[in-house]
Amino acid sequence: MNKRGNFSGNLGFILATAGSAIGLGNLWRFPYLAAKNGGGLFLIIYIILVLTFGYTLMTAEVAIGRKTGVGPLQAYGKTDRRFGFLGWIATVVSIIILSYYCVIGGWIVNYGATYMNGGASKIYETGVKDFYSSFITNPIAPIICLFVFMGLSALIVLLGVEKGIEKASKVMMPILFVLIVGIAIYSLTLSHYDIKADTTRTAWEGLKIYLIPNFEGLTVGKFFSILLDATGQMFYSLSVAMGIMITYGSYAKKESDLVSSINQIEFFDTGVAVLSGMIIIPTVFVFQGTEGLAKSGPNLLFVSLPQVFEQMGIIGHTVGALFFLLVFFAALTSTIALMEAVTVSIIDRFHLARPLATSLCFVISLVIGVIVCMGYNLLYCEIPLLNGTTGQILDLLDYLTNNLMLPAVAFLTCILVGWVCRPHYVLDEIKIGHKSEVIHREKLFVVMIKFVAPAQLLVILLQAFNVFSFLG
Ligand code: TRP
Repeated sequence: MNKRGNFSGNLGFILATAGSAIGLGNLWRFPYLAAKNGGGLFLIIYIILVLTFGYTLMTAEVAIGRKTGVGPLQAYGKTDRRFGFLGWIATVVSIIILSYYCVIGGWIVNYGATYMNGGASKIYETGVKDFYSSFITNPIAPIICLFVFMGLSALIVLLGVEKGIEKASKVMMPILFVLIVGIAIYSLTLSHYDIKADTTRTAWEGLKIYLIPNFEGLTVGKFFSILLDATGQMFYSLSVAMGIMITYGSYAKKESDLVSSINQIEFFDTGVAVLSGMIIIPTVFVFQGTEGLAKSGPNLLFVSLPQVFEQMGIIGHTVGALFFLLVFFAALTSTIALMEAVTVSIIDRFHLARPLATSLCFVISLVIGVIVCMGYNLLYCEIPLLNGTTGQILDLLDYLTNNLMLPAVAFLTCILVGWVCRPHYVLDEIKIGHKSEVIHREKLFVVMIKFVAPAQLLVILLQAFNVFSFLG
């Protein structure tokens, strides 16, 4: 056993990696995109992408991690010297995402604590929208929440791979699964009489909107934009292209069966996303109708849902508290993964001890996080993004990382594995520990990593510059 730490076995690896994958992306971004893109069709495209594209990238990264046995900062360079710079980009991306993800984590702490203390009526008295905006524009409160949330992540990372991350995942992930299944079942029983529209809407009708593909008014341009949304989401959700999978792969034992682990991680991640849509889309539909769904957008988590909990009456307090607990666990297992990737890169590259490396990572991301928080008050400005919209510092960082840096890293990873060190580099590694001789998606892997994935990634990169707006 080396000094960096290892997962004790397959289950630890699967739960920790699933924990990194399952996060705000599943609970908030996926339902919001599914609603925006008309449900069913988005869902089908998404699942196909996970099984092909997602599988390919995840396999490549986990294998590079286990084979090189070092953190992302050095792993690319160890695979091929000319690709060492990718490690730097991946590490910078991780630090940036960690910083703004923890800011949102802080907001979740605030909402979760408010609901759990029975303080939800305070939110409703102020008005859900005003509560949200007065909280994020407050110069102090979000920073304190950020500190609490990031501090918690740092504590777990400080405890190490097996005692910290693995243990925490083994506690939080099962609770998360129980919570999400429970809340999903509850939300499917909902119905609500809307006085204004004089109708009763049921969750089943909402579920139909979510699950049944709607081809009405589908144009090439629209299909293309659904495809791009689904691809971007798949990336984000599986946490690929930023060294996380390399990090966790480097802690997997040689006898671990990576192929079956990856299948299970994909299954859990997609399952949680689909379930989350099953909670959010029918619930918002029941209480606010189709207009509610259409306008919820990115404010879904902090405005639309609390509005729904308010309409639920007294039980809404409990549902709200449980829901925010669920989101809290999902976000925390993701930030510990990000923090671990940066920490281990520092440990491997600069040979620092874990406490020092973690503290360094904590301080850097805290500083960036504080700047992100100030983007809503002291440093407020409307920053133009390349896609024609404007946003605050958080939106800018999100755009830069997800739309530009991640696709770029993923593209170069495909070139590295597909053309430089060749697919057998990865395939040979995943065959170690694999129970059977055949790997089902071997041919698919080769075609994807060499041709399809790089092509698709190029399109995504071009889209970040709004090149395809002419398609309508
Ligand atoms: N997959 C995470 C989610 O769905 C978000 C994410 C993207 C992430 N990249 C990551 C989390 C890297 C941890 C590590 O919310």
